[in-house]
Amino acid sequence: MDPKPEAVSKITVPVILDRKLRGEKVTCLTAYDYPTARLVDESGIDMILVGDSLGQVVLGYDSTIPVTLDEMLHHLRAVRRATHRALLIVDLPYGAYHQGEEEALRAGIRCLKEGAESVKLEGGSKRAALIRRLVDAEIPVMGHIGLTPQSVHNFGGYRVQGRTLESANDLLADAQAVEDAGAFALVLEGIPRELAALITGRLRIPTIGIGAGPDCDGQVLVIHDLLGLANQPPPKFVRPYAELAAVARGAVARYRDDVATGRFPGDAESYHWSPGLREQFVKWATIRNLKDEA
Ligand code: KIV
Repeated sequence: MDPKPEAVSKITVPVILDRKLRGEKVTCLTAYDYPTARLVDESGIDMILVGDSLGQVVLGYDSTIPVTLDEMLHHLRAVRRATHRALLIVDLPYGAYHQGEEEALRAGIRCLKEGAESVKLEGGSKRAALIRRLVDAEIPVMGHIGLTPQSVHNFGGYRVQGRTLESANDLLADAQAVEDAGAFALVLEGIPRELAALITGRLRIPTIGIGAGPDCDGQVLVIHDLLGLANQPPPKFVRPYAELAAVARGAVARYRDDVATGRFPGDAESYHWSPGLREQFVKWATIRNLKDEA
């Protein structure tokens, strides 16, 4: 059966903007490698984010702070090869846009040259000029405010933001500043549902929530959390759709037992000589050895 036309049509920035006008939700997941990106793309997810969360879930760092631009590009290239339909977004990691607009521009351009279709960066009003500069250089930008992981040291931990009147008001202003600077979408992370709903109602660009409740225009999750593959218990806002770590552990344990007891590999998992070749070989080797000895 032919795939439905909408299942194969490419998701672009205008398509994402249009979703908001139509009141249609936007789906987004992270991916960091070829097989995962393939799976996500084939599942019809709208946007794939090569998130700097890869620092924690793939590279084993304590936070996203150590992740470098070169590491992001390495993973971006693998994801690019597998992504055909989804809009491909890459995170600018900590330190790739904090030393000035020229540095940010160079980083953004490298990302697009490697196949990203957009970059994401953290911060609100204080990043507005930078976002404008990237957008002016034809680099679509997704903003990210709220519990922004690159600010973990400023926040004193991974704490929900926007719980006080003042910080809620700051986040509202941040959201507006990101939209006014030309971003095409905005991630709202770790903020109260009520504030996310208010921001979503005010903006013309879609809001993509993670730990921000159901009223956002779309949702994003870290794929390892959704699949039950993360190395720590998932936060409250994650719904674990699978427990793949348990499945993988069981498979590895069975393999270990089978090898240890000689049950793997079996004859069916072995290659064979064609019939008669063993006898031929024995004869040939015997003659050859006799010649060598003479
Ligand atoms: O790095 C990441 O995966 C992210 C999402 C969680 C929004 O920024």
